[in-house]
Amino acid sequence: MAIIRKSVEEYWDKHPCDSEGIAFPEGSLEFFEEREEKRYQGQAFIHSFAQFTRWRGKKVLEVGCGCGIDLLQFARAGAEVYAIDLSQHSVELTRKHLELCGLRAEIKQGDGRDLPFPSDYFDLVYSWGVLHHSPEPSKVVEEIYRVLKPGGYIKGMVYSHNSPAWLKTWFEYALLKGRIFTSLSRVISEHYESPGTRAFTMGQIKQLFRLFSELKFEPAPLRELAFLKKHRALSWLANFYPRCLAAWMAVDGRRPERKRG
Ligand SMILES: C[S@@+](CC[C@H](N)C(=O)[O-])C[C@H]1O[C@@H](n2cnc3c(N)ncnc32)[C@H](O)[C@@H]1O
Repeated sequence: MAIIRKSVEEYWDKHPCDSEGIAFPEGSLEFFEEREEKRYQGQAFIHSFAQFTRWRGKKVLEVGCGCGIDLLQFARAGAEVYAIDLSQHSVELTRKHLELCGLRAEIKQGDGRDLPFPSDYFDLVYSWGVLHHSPEPSKVVEEIYRVLKPGGYIKGMVYSHNSPAWLKTWFEYALLKGRIFTSLSRVISEHYESPGTRAFTMGQIKQLFRLFSELKFEPAPLRELAFLKKHRALSWLANFYPRCLAAWMAVDGRRPERKRG
């Protein structure tokens, strides 16, 4: 299924990331504090992956900032931060959160396929959990490459097809509905977050990031571990869960330096 920009935008306008189930009124300081606490309770790995403090004084762009909780960490650490997201509602929440914390950032509503930033500009482009929701993810990656300085870094996370975590969605929307011939890809596309969501094979992930050098792929089984730890009888299994079956793949790479003439 081709991903339509409008439907992705509408979905994230209605369901801004990390904002469901928060007890406080949207936009209040307590709302933002609870969201931030919950995010890193479940996804502590993000700290070691993003290395927020490493980017002090550097230009950082977040593509698909959602509600900007990671963006806030870059700003707190002293980076010069910029962000873009398709969803106007998410952009407004991100602006409000940074403003309440007395932090500055340039945050725009827009499409990662056409970044409104100059070429060779950023030291880091960060994009956590975005490309698998985006129309034409390879165009977004090409734009990220363009706006990065030669030698600049990309850090991203995409959904990986390998994980049994997706079976839950398949059981719910295929098996239990008697549609047993429906493929896993179709179920993810029709029922997991915004319309058209994809989970990439390892080959597709390598192809997507092929422009970059020094690539490192780090499986991040955060969803799976959260599930196992929530169930007392299963929590011991969390220590043995094979990382290669992670539903999330964190990707780290560099735009190659220009060759000297
Ligand atoms: C799952 S949320 C992740 C948000 C944030 N990075 C986080 O980790 O909380 C996906 C976000 O990507 C945005 N998005 C998807 N495709 C995009 C694109 N082509 N350009 C900009 N933002 C996009 C959506 O609007 C949504 O806010």
